Amino acid sequence: MNVFIKTYGCQMNERDSEAIAGMLASRGYGIVDREETADILIFNTCSVREQAERKAVGKIGFIKKLKKQRPELIIGIMGCMAQHLGEKLFDDLPHVDFVIGTGQLHKLPEVLDSIIAERRQLALLTGGEEVLTSLGTHYRMTGTGEFQAYIAVTRGCNRFCSYCIVPYVRGREVSRDIADVVAEAENLAAAGVREIMLLGQNVAAFGLGGDTDPPPEGVSPFADLLAELNRIQGLCRIRFISPYPSYFNDKLIRTLGALDKVCHNVHLPLQSGSDRILKKMNRQYTAEKYLEIVAKLRQVMPDITFSTDIIVGFPGETAEDFNATRDLMRKVGYDNAFIFKYSPRSGTPAAEMEGQIPQAVREERNQLLLKELTDYTLAHNKTYLGSVQEVLIEGPSRRNPGRWSGKTGTFKVVVFKPAPETASGDLVNVKIIRSTAATLFGELV
Ligand code: 5AD
Ligand code: SF4
Repeated sequence: MNVFIKTYGCQMNERDSEAIAGMLASRGYGIVDREETADILIFNTCSVREQAERKAVGKIGFIKKLKKQRPELIIGIMGCMAQHLGEKLFDDLPHVDFVIGTGQLHKLPEVLDSIIAERRQLALLTGGEEVLTSLGTHYRMTGTGEFQAYIAVTRGCNRFCSYCIVPYVRGREVSRDIADVVAEAENLAAAGVREIMLLGQNVAAFGLGGDTDPPPEGVSPFADLLAELNRIQGLCRIRFISPYPSYFNDKLIRTLGALDKVCHNVHLPLQSGSDRILKKMNRQYTAEKYLEIVAKLRQVMPDITFSTDIIVGFPGETAEDFNATRDLMRKVGYDNAFIFKYSPRSGTPAAEMEGQIPQAVREERNQLLLKELTDYTLAHNKTYLGSVQEVLIEGPSRRNPGRWSGKTGTFKVVVFKPAPETASGDLVNVKIIRSTAATLFGELV
């Protein structure tokens, strides 16, 4: 039987889809990239903003027609929205056959066996701590090339930021064993992977046993993990997302600066530059503390670039609070930022807060930050002109197949004219001759 998997949301979901595909492929299922050729359709969903849920529900609703024509089609919903809405999904989408929560995804093969044997709706939403250890399989589908791979190192989140649904739908934070992660990375490297991206809702909390306080100075199992991974032959780049700012103690910062394979680009979610809003968000740092971490990281990696997540229009956000965010963004100078309009999620404390901000204001603030970000990157990318950058080649450029593209260690996209021997996964030097807000253009040297 053939399976089509559609993934919404973050890299963790993409990784989960890879693991699902790997599990099914090893049991003889075919993995296909078109719905029309599939016997089983799986939607791996996201709940972080309302828009993400609306998109998935719309798409799955649309499939109803297909199921009328082909009643034997099996349709399943997995991931965060499955966990969030559970069996209620069967009410709105009665043509769906199964709903599997985030902690049970490793049970998918059994669920499919049972549905194939006797057709009835099935929901599996609780239990299943063993999900962590059963996720080593990799199956390459989309997104990352053959030489890049995601490795999930922690799952879940204990931080409970007041706007965020993740702790409710992904559960408490758990870390894998360091030996497990290292073995997975070694296997990937032996298979030709050159760049790994470590994933976790709060990846820097790796190995802390779910403690909600950031570690004291001198303690950072995450730094220890990076040091182990840095030793693996064949790997040339290590990235990670997303670390909560307070977990950057001096030990972690020093380690990041000292390891040659760790990329000089850190995604450091800010959310807001106003201390008053950060407090209401239950984010446990101040703007000053955040800037201190940025400065320390710059000290050990002078060419470091930063990206971030920002929420505009959080309940009670005044013009002054918003200006504090603009101010902080200017001070850091982000090379990329994911700017989100606040979306109330039922069950989270922020959804009940007074002072919800009108949609039009959220939109306006969103647009302004996007514009200021582009102004910054346009100017900053000019500073690369004339420099030579080390680029890990990804493949032909999407916009112009006559050109190839790759990324610098600082996560800049570089487009260049390939040589006959140019191949994905190679490290090359490129001299930068032109730049836009999003891209650097150059020549092989
Ligand atoms: N509304 C808008 N953005 C949100 N995020 C998380 N929850 C919400 C919400 N309710 C954003 C945060 C987080 C990113 C993954 O999604 O910025 O870092
Ligand atoms: Fe959500 Fe905060 Fe956890 Fe990130 S750290 S997943 S924003 S609760």
